[in-house]
Amino acid sequence: MTQLKPARILAIETSCDETACAVVENGRIALSSVVASQMEIHARYGGVFPEVASRQHVLSVTPVVRQALTQARLSLNDVDAIAVTQGPGLAGSLIVGVNMAKGLALALDKPLVGVNHLEGHIYSAWVYNAGEREPSAPQFPLMTLLVSGGHTELNLMTDHLTYQRLGATLDDAAGEAFDKAARTLELPYPGGPSIQKAAEEGDENRFDFPRARVQGEWDFSFSGVKTSLLYQVNDLKKRGGGLPVADLAASFQKSIVDALFKKTLDAAREFGAKEILVAGGVSANRALRQAFQSQTEFPVRIPPFALCTDNAAMIGAAGYFRYALGHVSEMDMEVLPVWRLSRAV
Ligand code: KG4
Ligand code: ZN
Repeated sequence: MTQLKPARILAIETSCDETACAVVENGRIALSSVVASQMEIHARYGGVFPEVASRQHVLSVTPVVRQALTQARLSLNDVDAIAVTQGPGLAGSLIVGVNMAKGLALALDKPLVGVNHLEGHIYSAWVYNAGEREPSAPQFPLMTLLVSGGHTELNLMTDHLTYQRLGATLDDAAGEAFDKAARTLELPYPGGPSIQKAAEEGDENRFDFPRARVQGEWDFSFSGVKTSLLYQVNDLKKRGGGLPVADLAASFQKSIVDALFKKTLDAAREFGAKEILVAGGVSANRALRQAFQSQTEFPVRIPPFALCTDNAAMIGAAGYFRYALGHVSEMDMEVLPVWRLSRAV
């Protein structure tokens, strides 16, 4: 690849329930990364309440942008372009970040770069903190497993910004399955970390939840596991006595992790991948990380914990490659609540 021009990107992310801003240099170095989480507010509703999320973004976006600049010790004039999550996500939430980015781009007369949120998750694997030793960049072709609250997909990344969609979930996303399972087990929101915590004390072999069969070779399905957990819980409740929550959580987690791990490994073999990349909120899951890290067939990239869940450093990384490769957006760009990664360029 030819040498890309150096640039500092100010990135904004408001696709769901985190208001985030970061300054990223050359697509790799996070000079700052600020995330204002709304988790406590939404925990009251047991999930993200869209209108509340938009209103919170309006309150938080300006202070978060200011804080990201202060943390990077830069002023707005020091950045070369403004990147923002354009989709997929909640329309009302996306609009807040996109309008802020448009305002900044207009006032500063700098390019505006719309970024696909899923692409951002993938590019979180490129990012490292200022002052740390530079890790090598991922190698193409790269088998990417994206596991978040809204998406679960396998894409083969053959070059920067170029994705071949192999498969995806036919029903629930992996994170959604964790969140619903937590509700069934009466564990707090967000479900992923709660299930992981409960599972630590549990026997993962006590319950044998089904690994769903799906039509497409590279697709996933998690609704069967979710229903099977619900039946099991109802059955145990009918029989009386306390619920073995730890064993249920551990067995449920194992069935999800097994499905994700095996299919990704098979796909990496089939498509001759040089490396595997796992990203998105569920990539924070310890059992999932361990499954990938304990195999030796492929080098594996999983972002550090802080970059697994939503943040703006990942948008700044993807935004840099878009900017440097000439994919700048029009000032009248719309938000895209639904936007496939394979159509990202
Ligand atoms: O990527 P993300 O922050 O937001 C979306 O783009 O959706 O992912 C959030 C999802 C939630 O469903 C949450 O339960 C899940 O990631 N998650 C986890 C863990 N941490 C977050 N799932 C399993 N184990 C975890 N440790
Ligand atoms: Zn996300």
